[in-house]
Amino acid sequence: MNRLRLLSVIAVLVAVGATVGWLSRGSGSPSTSVAELPRSGKPMTLARSSDCRPCHQEVYDEWAGSQHGLAYTNPEVQRLSKGFRDRDCLPCHAPRPIPETGLGERALERLVTLEEGVDCFACHKHHDTMLGGTHIAGAVDAPCNPVPSAAIKDLRTCTPCHDQHKVVQDWKETHYAVPGPGFKDCNGCHMPEVDRPATATLPARKGKSHRFPASHDLASLKSAASMKTSVDGRAVGIEVRNDGTGHNFPADERHRAVDLVIVAETSTGSVVSARIDRYRNPYRDEFDLKSPLRNPGAEAEWIADFGAAGRASVRATRVAAAFNPNRKQHYAENTQIPAGEARRYVVVLPESLRSVTVRLLYKRQPFLQDAEAILLHESVLRVGG
Ligand code: HEC
Ligand code: HEC
Ligand code: HEC
Ligand code: HEC
Ligand code: HEC
Repeated sequence: MNRLRLLSVIAVLVAVGATVGWLSRGSGSPSTSVAELPRSGKPMTLARSSDCRPCHQEVYDEWAGSQHGLAYTNPEVQRLSKGFRDRDCLPCHAPRPIPETGLGERALERLVTLEEGVDCFACHKHHDTMLGGTHIAGAVDAPCNPVPSAAIKDLRTCTPCHDQHKVVQDWKETHYAVPGPGFKDCNGCHMPEVDRPATATLPARKGKSHRFPASHDLASLKSAASMKTSVDGRAVGIEVRNDGTGHNFPADERHRAVDLVIVAETSTGSVVSARIDRYRNPYRDEFDLKSPLRNPGAEAEWIADFGAAGRASVRATRVAAAFNPNRKQHYAENTQIPAGEARRYVVVLPESLRSVTVRLLYKRQPFLQDAEAILLHESVLRVGG
């Protein structure tokens, strides 16, 4: 036991040493290293995220309602981890600070204040200092001992938890990852700029939202992809394009599914519907699934079944992205739409269908009914006869 403890102390010291080494090397702006910075004499004892609240009220409120703040208490996570009896879930849902194990390195699980999920320390704490960015208003004397550091803005603050299903790899294949005017990293979309009000000691300034808007934010979801439709006789043309994310759509999680659905009224007045396509990175045990559009440029045909109202023929094309047109998917089953790519369809409807509604539906998990999905886009069409 004592020997084990000694070994783990040594391991932690080695890890911290490596981190300090990395940080002191610096990586671009800001150039000051942690070691060179003046430190306020007595850092406060800050044990939990709620200790930050009195001085960082807005950031705290944003974080507390975010998926990071909810990562441990989230009922869905609680259910699937059997109340975290599955300890494998803890390192990402209730982590120790990333700067402690090192940027890009797998996080360790925390043993205290689990209910705070991905807490402030996870991203900010390095020894007794708080890593900050370019926002610091010359306030290295603040009680939380903030130091400007490139580490907080480094992609490797996010990768330890977010590359499980290759969202970071996906991002690297997009034009957003190319340095220059079009560059946008994860924070560029998921931490939009917000106003911070003046305090007793500081003027009004800009901050970065800790809500991390994404799939739990309707506006972000709707901005992720666009849908265009057209009609030519009984043929409906549809294009779904990922023009709003910096990675595949829907992102990351294997639970998510996006369905392209046609709902139609028959000449006798009954309402029928059929799924035209589904975008998704399936569970590992869904062996029967194979993407019919494996490579950019590929075409395929299939049938959409409206039951008694008849069947529609679907001709689908995978339209390459302007940037990186030959990019590969990581899994053969994967039907997610990579950033910049589109799916184009010509759907020839059976005679019996009249008024037609095309819908793009987002599902938090693939087993949800259409009625339980989030409506992203809708287009009502009159088909000729
Ligand atoms: C390598 C880090 C990592 C591990 C380990 C991990 N998760 Fe997650 N989990 C994430 C990230 C990152 C997200 C958010 C991104 C996303 O939606 O994929 C997430 C999201 C989730 C969500 C979706 C929450 C929602 O409401 O949208 C559930 C449920 C979940 N995890 C359950 C689990 C369970 C159960 C385990 C253990 C078996 C686990 N996770 C282990 C990183 C991890
Ligand atoms: C007693 C007040 C106080 C407490 C408590 C406090 N801070 Fe601070 N903090 C400040 C002040 C003042 C600044 C400098 C002004 C600013 O940037 O908001 C600052 C700056 C920061 C910065 C740098 C922000 C930037 O501009 O880049 C970070 C990061 C930070 N604090 C994190 C934390 C965290 C995390 C906690 C809790 C563990 C915490 N602080 C607790 C007062 C406090
Ligand atoms: C210690 C692990 C960890 C780190 C580090 C981390 N995240 Fe997360 N993140 C998670 C988990 C876990 C969730 C999902 C929690 C849940 O839904 O229960 C999440 C959720 C998110 C979401 C919201 C997804 C949704 O479903 O709405 C975004 C966006 C996000 N993280 C971006 C980032 C970015 C950008 C960084 C780097 C600055 C980062 N995260 C760092 C673990 C982490
Ligand atoms: C150009 C903007 C943009 C960039 C860059 C971007 N994202 Fe996203 N991201 C989005 C949008 C829009 C959504 C919502 C649609 C969706 O879930 O696919 C999203 C969704 C997510 C989700 C939610 C996944 C889920 O299933 O709940 C996570 C996690 C995420 N992004 C992480 C990242 C990470 C990590 C990076 C950096 C490697 C990144 N994003 C870069 C726009 C972006
Ligand atoms: C998932 C990682 C992550 C978590 C969790 C997190 N932060 Fe941040 N924080 C960042 C990043 C990234 C920045 C932006 C750095 C930049 O762009 O300059 C930032 C910026 C800040 C800033 C300065 C900008 C602003 O908006 O005022 C403060 C203050 C801050 N964080 C405090 C906190 C506090 C307090 C908590 C917990 C309540 C917290 N952070 C949780 C990653 C995180």
